Amino acid sequence: MGTRLLDQVNTLEFKQNGDDRGHLVVIEGNKDIPFALARIFYIYGSGADVVRGCHANRRSEFVLVNVNGTSKVKVTDGREEKVIVLDKPYMGVYLPKMIWKEMYDFSKDSVLLCLASEVYDSNEYIRSYSDYLKEMRVTDE
Ligand code: TYD
Repeated sequence: MGTRLLDQVNTLEFKQNGDDRGHLVVIEGNKDIPFALARIFYIYGSGADVVRGCHANRRSEFVLVNVNGTSKVKVTDGREEKVIVLDKPYMGVYLPKMIWKEMYDFSKDSVLLCLASEVYDSNEYIRSYSDYLKEMRVTDE
């Protein structure tokens, strides 16, 4: 049961260390997220009609956080899908390796922070959805 890929996609709520000066969210590897951090990148300036991602990773796990603005993440294992709305700077979504992901519906002010378990290696990306389905052994029956 718990081994289903889609079941591993979980939202995380980080502690807001808030006081009258504002908020401060801390994300430590292997503590607040389930992997050691190797890389961060962030995505901003994407138009409302843009769809990003559209790939699966053989090795990288991710946590995505909309530190400003909002976006949506659609994940699928090739059979079922799930949509997560990222609309709070203290909320993240964990994405296991080999899940197919698409990010879209970016607000104008969206800054999507991506925390990754691996440094960048373009060879671990599966960018073709039909290759992904083959690898996941999803066939038309
Ligand atoms: P891309 O994978 O298309 O972004 P996304 O899938 O998140 O929409 O990456 C855009 C460009 O940035 C592409 O030329 C590859 C490069 N890139 C790196 O050099 N290192 C990285 O860690 C990432 C995520 C992308």
